[in-house]
Amino acid sequence: MERTYVMIKPDGVQRNLVGEIIARFEQKGLKIVALKMLQISRELAERHYGEHKGKPFFEPLVAYITSGPVVAMVLEGKDAVRTVRDMMGATNPLKAAPGTIRGTYGMDIGRNVVHGSDSVESANREIGLFFTPEEIVEYQRAVDSWIYE
Ligand code: RTP
Ligand code: MG
Repeated sequence: MERTYVMIKPDGVQRNLVGEIIARFEQKGLKIVALKMLQISRELAERHYGEHKGKPFFEPLVAYITSGPVVAMVLEGKDAVRTVRDMMGATNPLKAAPGTIRGTYGMDIGRNVVHGSDSVESANREIGLFFTPEEIVEYQRAVDSWIYE
């Protein structure tokens, strides 16, 4: 099973979409193995979005992601990285397919509600940035045999 790092961004929290977004992932069959709320520091934001340093949208991006609390989680499941990216939709919510999270809830690229790792390598890096190994919980779900054949 694969793991991915997912984060409800400050706009998602402020707009009371936390339950709605987590429910989508749960209903899909993804397993929550870590979950917490935190306020991201500038230092953590710069590390998380390090690949974008120097780009014109970097400063607004850091300001956005540190502007209020976020809900951070690790989701586990078959092909979890790609599955979550597909459920989120395109980076620009106006280009995101209807029915995706960004396609349903967003309007601007700088207010796109949710983050998901873009590769297994990014997922491992981001999980390590936001969670200690002890914060990731291994457990069985009784329903798993009804989700996976
Ligand atoms: P994320 O990392 O937040 O899940 O988003 P993503 O993979 O879909 O997009 P990425 O290229 O990693 O960009 C990170 C975030 O930066 C903002 N952005 N603004 N104005 C722009 O051209 C622009 N491009 C990216 C978005 O908020 C995006 O989610
Ligand atoms: Mg990204």
